[in-house]
Amino acid sequence: SLPDIEPSRLEIERTQNPKKPPPPSGLVFGHTFTDHMLTIPWNASTGWGTPKIQPYGPLSLEPSATVFHYAQTLFEGLKAYRDQNGKVTLFRPDMNMKRMNSSAKRIALPAFNGDQVIELMKELIRLDKHWIPNQPGYSLYIRPTLIGSQPALGIAPPNEALLFVICSPVGPYYPQGFKPVALYGTTEYTRAFPGGIGAYKLGANYAPGVVAQKDAAKLGYVQNLWLHGPEHHITEVGTMNAFAVFKRPDGSAELVTPPLDGVILPGVTRDSVLALARDHASGKAKVPDLPEQLVVSERPMTMKEVKDAAASGRLLEFFGTGTAAVISPVDRIGYLGEDVHIPTGPDGMGPVSRPVWKQLVGIQMGTVAHPWSVVV
Ligand code: COI
Repeated sequence: SLPDIEPSRLEIERTQNPKKPPPPSGLVFGHTFTDHMLTIPWNASTGWGTPKIQPYGPLSLEPSATVFHYAQTLFEGLKAYRDQNGKVTLFRPDMNMKRMNSSAKRIALPAFNGDQVIELMKELIRLDKHWIPNQPGYSLYIRPTLIGSQPALGIAPPNEALLFVICSPVGPYYPQGFKPVALYGTTEYTRAFPGGIGAYKLGANYAPGVVAQKDAAKLGYVQNLWLHGPEHHITEVGTMNAFAVFKRPDGSAELVTPPLDGVILPGVTRDSVLALARDHASGKAKVPDLPEQLVVSERPMTMKEVKDAAASGRLLEFFGTGTAAVISPVDRIGYLGEDVHIPTGPDGMGPVSRPVWKQLVGIQMGTVAHPWSVVV
């Protein structure tokens, strides 16, 4: 069993200056934070210390803290939703805790009991739940983070760490509805490589992506498409997992995403899309309006396959999945000086992404009952 963070020891210090949540329409992703945060210190000799909910505010860390030098930091992203009756739910928080522990292990940060951290996060969310805009597409984005905080420059597992959780009210990623994005197939940089850290949600994976995104923007694209190896295998879309849908000779549709082979982040939305599609395909649980003949594949796909399929009319759609945007349709991929054009429907989406998105959002918002939705 994983080291305890005892929820019964929780101390709560309420803010003396509660803020007024701003009007939802003005929210910019990740720019506004709620009144409180959760902090849990860790020490190698005493283990996890007293969990504390306290006013959101600056942390005090020494400049020698390992997080500032060696990127001993990892994070998660999950959302809390509030329905018309005020019921608050989290979407698959167990998946985030599992991944957070997996990320921690990869960079020698301490493991923890994820169920206990979920209980503590629930306390935090209950305290700040009035910050969750109760409008379709709005939610509270929750950011659990774990850093090495030992003031020491030696490269070693830190003997002090800090787990903290902050919350940010967010709107729909696309306020005007789905706007398909143009991607630039990046051949200049690599996101991840076998034996590296691409399968973990480490801060170190994200800073190097900023330049790739900026280069793509300079060329007129919205995001970059991460390619890997000499055959330009498709790996990820910016900070999202990548999916394509191909029409097969027998008329069926094949939903494809690259396998979790070490260079792919095990996304919660990725897993959810695959699970819904597989249950539909097997007849276990139908997703309304999803193509009857559906094949679900976790397999490698190359840029050549996508380009050839687009040229011969066999590419039905291409999209990214992530917690922030949920599903992000793609209408164009710049690749080696040419543009590959991808069909999108009048609503921006495609024959698989549209029904899957509807089902996923229904589960998240509580209009479709499902065990993935966890009551706060
Ligand atoms: C996502 O949800 O797609 C993310 O990876 C979050 C991003 C802000 C890092």
